[in-house]
Amino acid sequence: MSQRNIILIGPMGSGKSTIGNIIAKRLHRDFQDSDHFIEQRTGVDIARIFDIEGEQGFRDRETSALRELLKDDGRVIATGGGSVLRAENQQLLKQHGYIIFLDTSLNQQMQRLRRDKKRPLLQTDNPRARLESLLQERRPIYLDLADLVVKTDKRMARRLAADIINQLPENLK
Ligand code: S3P
Repeated sequence: MSQRNIILIGPMGSGKSTIGNIIAKRLHRDFQDSDHFIEQRTGVDIARIFDIEGEQGFRDRETSALRELLKDDGRVIATGGGSVLRAENQQLLKQHGYIIFLDTSLNQQMQRLRRDKKRPLLQTDNPRARLESLLQERRPIYLDLADLVVKTDKRMARRLAADIINQLPENLK
């Protein structure tokens, strides 16, 4: 019997891929990361896609990736931080999975992303201000979409993943 997808949403540096991977292993499910999927499909990294096609081009690819990944059931899927922006994506996510929001503080994001060179939106003089404004815009959407909200601060990934699994509805475990 196929199970609903488990979808992780949240800002850059919230640990979606790390936590998603652990949850997938523990539940013996397939794990997919939408950014990674896009990079594999295109053969170039996300920064390069932003360079060549702009954010709009990347967002189109992101929507296609989500459509593709959500065709099947039973997966654990880590999304990109901005994937919740389009109404179309919001519908897709809601229809095709149980949504977990990793609610992370700005400080923790900064700790994780201080030296990041891979994320085009953070290549600015003031990445903290950028993260703050993105969070302000997106946090209400994350909260609205989420079936489960988990604070991630100061917790080890393994511990957090175990806590999340404990909180999942029985039919998803
Ligand atoms: C983005 C987040 C990134 C990636 C791209 C844009 C965003 O994914 O999709 O750089 O708009 O917040 P992560 O959330 O995995 O870092």
